[in-house]
Amino acid sequence: MSRVEVFVDAAGVARAAADAFEALLRERGKDGAVLGLATGSTPLPLYRELVRRHREEGLPFAHATSFNLDEYWPIAPDHPRSFARFMDEHLFDHLDLPAARRHIPSGLTPVPGLAAACQDYEAAIAAAGGIDLQVLGIGVNGHIGFNEPGALPGSRTRMVELDDSTRARARGDFGGEEVPARAVTMGLATILEARRILVLATGPDKAAAVAAAIDGPATTALPASWLQQHPDVTWLLDAPAAAAR
Ligand code: GLP
Repeated sequence: MSRVEVFVDAAGVARAAADAFEALLRERGKDGAVLGLATGSTPLPLYRELVRRHREEGLPFAHATSFNLDEYWPIAPDHPRSFARFMDEHLFDHLDLPAARRHIPSGLTPVPGLAAACQDYEAAIAAAGGIDLQVLGIGVNGHIGFNEPGALPGSRTRMVELDDSTRARARGDFGGEEVPARAVTMGLATILEARRILVLATGPDKAAAVAAAIDGPATTALPASWLQQHPDVTWLLDAPAAAAR
């Protein structure tokens, strides 16, 4: 069953999500929480709030482990638009989360070794004890991570082709440079194994995908609709993102 919470603005969404992270981090303490992290513009206010709580209130990440959903392919980790760089800039450079326990799929693994690298990523999640709390954004086309329409609910970490619409939306970020045509992403089954999932959506662009994912049928046409099958999903929406329900 999905829970849905609606806030007047994106700051309310960020605070609610940060509260869930804080509760988990404090509850796990030295046992170490396992965090599933996302990129995109939507989680930025959450990351700002986590950095603030770390700096001003001493919220500790020293024992945590993190796994990011996805990365463009091919892309170097120091490319300005890589998700590795995004995470450093917006979160990791400002926290005490040890570098050795931050995981992001590599955007540079050559194809011959890629399937093995994806299996290693799944194995690393399992070895960490599974993801306690996964934060997700949602694409306008209903993608989660880079599981585009057509992705199967049993899918695992793998290379995927990006939708033309996804690449078109990313074009501004890449400032004239070509957007990679592919990515490496956790699969839908990988995501659905997280013990708890928070889906963040803000702004009117997301309203149609949010309504269909929560209230419509579970379908491969809309990857986020498979979240209905997870026992502990909370949608944190601002009013514009909730407007089509
Ligand atoms: C990206 C990511 C997704 C993200 C989505 C929405 O490309 N791969 O994980 O949720 O697209 O991005 P935004 O939050 O910027 O709308």
